[in-house]
Amino acid sequence: MSDDRPVGEANSRYDQARYIENGEYEPLLSAKDLTRVEIGGGSGDGGDESDGTGSDASPLPDDLTRDSLELPELSEPELARHYTRLSQMIYGIDSGPYPLGSCTMKYNPKFTEDVAALPSAAVHPDRSEGSVQGTLELLYRLQDYLGRIGGMDAVTLQPPAGAAGEFVGIRVAAAYHEHNGEGHRDEVIVPESAHGTNFASAALGGYDVVSLPSDDEGRVDLEALEAALSENTAALMLTNPNTLGLFERDITEIAEMVHDVGGLLYYDGANLNALLGRARPGDMGFDVMHYNVHKTFATPHGGGGPGAGPVGVVDDLAPFLPTPRVRERDEGSKSSDPVYERFEPEHTIGKVHGFDGNWLVLVKAFAYIARLGDEGLADASASAVLNANYLAEQVEYDVPYGPFHHEFVASAGGQDAADVAKRMLDYGVHPPTTKWPEIVPEALMTEPTEVESKATLDRLAAAFNAVAGEETETLEHAPERTTARRIDQTSAARTPQLSWQALEDE
Ligand SMILES: Cc1ncc(COP(=O)(O)O)c(C=O)c1O
Repeated sequence: MSDDRPVGEANSRYDQARYIENGEYEPLLSAKDLTRVEIGGGSGDGGDESDGTGSDASPLPDDLTRDSLELPELSEPELARHYTRLSQMIYGIDSGPYPLGSCTMKYNPKFTEDVAALPSAAVHPDRSEGSVQGTLELLYRLQDYLGRIGGMDAVTLQPPAGAAGEFVGIRVAAAYHEHNGEGHRDEVIVPESAHGTNFASAALGGYDVVSLPSDDEGRVDLEALEAALSENTAALMLTNPNTLGLFERDITEIAEMVHDVGGLLYYDGANLNALLGRARPGDMGFDVMHYNVHKTFATPHGGGGPGAGPVGVVDDLAPFLPTPRVRERDEGSKSSDPVYERFEPEHTIGKVHGFDGNWLVLVKAFAYIARLGDEGLADASASAVLNANYLAEQVEYDVPYGPFHHEFVASAGGQDAADVAKRMLDYGVHPPTTKWPEIVPEALMTEPTEVESKATLDRLAAAFNAVAGEETETLEHAPERTTARRIDQTSAARTPQLSWQALEDE
């Protein structure tokens, strides 16, 4: 191992990484064990006499059963250490700062895990309503909390991620237009700086996507918006603050313009943690929005599920929300009746998830909101904005657009942003999002989140600045000090090898 490792605080992760000398990585479990045990199984006669519907010993068909299984034989400490070492090779939010702009990788407080682990949270959803009143009350109150936070009249908790929420919101908007005899509206306008899921959700929702350029300051170009709006506009999707972290100052005018042509205004809630407790999309004129509970309320990331991406709407759109929602029973009901019930909105688009959504994720979101309260939520957004602004001040890279809120987009200038990201790993921190939004050349989209301390922000800034001063050749060879070096990212994503047998064969 060469001795040119980074110095100072940034060095700490290097010492933890379980990289074995001479290019050897942590061996596979199977490679550690020379003696393997044969586990007896199946009928023992190879299933020869089977009629193909399973042997006596197994109800499964023969081609799904086997008579023996090879397992490495290891002691408990060997196993425990193996998995602990593996867990140390990965970088996660519990290991250090993770300033992935827009994605908001925020630390999930452990008390929400405790709440979700309570025996009372482990309730099977397919029970009578009378016996799950506590579950229904929590869902009802979470719908209410989210509605009040977003300034929305009605909320569905079903979608399993932000992107799924976008799709549901777009389908709700489509159902609303169709119901009003406006089914000819076939366009959704999306700013070119928007997250890729906005384009995908609009297209999957059956719409033609009209891309909207930004103005010179990085905000919605009102003239371009005027030109894009028409009687065919179903909706405009906006993130506010936008992906440059900039507040859309003309939001009231934008809402009026969209409503004047009969369109709806969609709020991508990914950046809501910049406004939490201080401003509400509903008050700005938005008609429909999704909440990324993993970004704003600190629950685990979904990646399409199991997360949660609730959708809020104004009154006019409420009848189209997915079924079921939860409500309090009419005042007229008997005192012995259960208080909360599921119901089907009048013109519902149908079901988008089993039962009520990802229940345990919703429990965590509820616990987080209840623990912080109005004041805590407003403090969280203040800290998110303060942290981003403090970090940007410390970082030597240029930040061309501002004033920004909870995230900023620096430019790597003459360096390749992807190389900068790889090199930051060598300094023991996770890099920012790179190369997006494209309006900033070699973008480093950075969101420290509200949870980081000043010391951590300083450590992050030190890593940015160390990389800013390095030569292209160094950056191109990074990372040098991680367990795995430059991997083929496309193959890793498209053809992942998830079994040790496949790795061993290789
Ligand atoms: C601006 C924006 N919109 C939507 C999404 C999609 O959210 P999710 O990851 O919950 O599907 C993201 C994800 O990072 C985002 O940054």
